[in-house]
Amino acid sequence: MARAAVSRKVVAPVDLAIVNRTPAKAEALAETLGAHHCTAQALSEWHPQCVILAVKPKDVSEGAQIARAALRDGGLVLSVLAGVTTARLRELLGPRIGIVRAMPNVASLYGAGVTAWCSGGDLHESHKSWCVRLFESLGSAFEVADDTAIDIATAVFASSPAFLLYVVEQLESRCDGLGLTAEEGRRLLAQLLRGCAALVESSRPLHETRASVVSPGGTTAAGLAVLAGGHVGTIFRDAVSRSIQRAGELSKLY
Ligand SMILES: NC(=O)c1ccc[n+]([C@@H]2O[C@H](COP(=O)([O-])OP(=O)(O)OC[C@H]3O[C@@H](n4cnc5c(N)ncnc54)[C@H](OP(=O)(O)O)[C@@H]3O)[C@@H](O)[C@H]2O)c1
Repeated sequence: MARAAVSRKVVAPVDLAIVNRTPAKAEALAETLGAHHCTAQALSEWHPQCVILAVKPKDVSEGAQIARAALRDGGLVLSVLAGVTTARLRELLGPRIGIVRAMPNVASLYGAGVTAWCSGGDLHESHKSWCVRLFESLGSAFEVADDTAIDIATAVFASSPAFLLYVVEQLESRCDGLGLTAEEGRRLLAQLLRGCAALVESSRPLHETRASVVSPGGTTAAGLAVLAGGHVGTIFRDAVSRSIQRAGELSKLY
């Protein structure tokens, strides 16, 4: 997120400070970005306008304490912590801080992510527009109503890259007999996914596009019959449902 924010000029490196419990990590990242690195104590004297909280959920209390000590009233905390609700953040941060909870996905590393976000109460317009610019520097972003919707978005957009990559891995394992190098195989699989993305982006209903490549008695029909026999559609829906349910369970832990 820090890399995208700097490279897309959402934040000037001179205005960015990295804090980490392991100082060497903060130093290394700050050096690559041309940003500052500092201790929690130094941050509290710097008074940033926003603190992006990116510790593990179990460390939320300590992270929130550092953020609150650093921010003046009216400052903003942007949390990317999985399973930590805006209500919990409010409890830790008190009333006079703007709160945004976001769930970026792993493709944000390549500027091709999807970020779902919601605010924890009233949000200053300037905070909102800054957050949207930040999220868009990671790819696409959309606002949802509340933490329940974040749980759904977490399953559909943040956990699902692992589900889809699992499928792609199965295809990759069958590329062996094609005489391709591993790099060529990966490049062609990426093109396959870009092609599917184009099909998803078209206005044609997905089931119609899928049906258009199924000839009775053909190869695609044969493969789809195996998927249907294994109830893969139900399994995928169950996987997403379980993921949503787990997000709810995690939000009770922290
Ligand atoms: N990775 C993703 O794709 C992704 C996507 C969406 C959301 N998230 C969320 O992002 C958060 C971070 O995930 P991650 O994978 O980046 O974890 P991570 O690699 O473990 O990074 C967390 C960092 O926070 C530091 N830290 C912990 N407590 C601290 C404290 N009190 N003061 C200063 N620094 C402290 C840790 O330092 P030490 O190394 O010393 O422990 C560690 O470097 C998680 O809450 C996760 O749910 C991640």
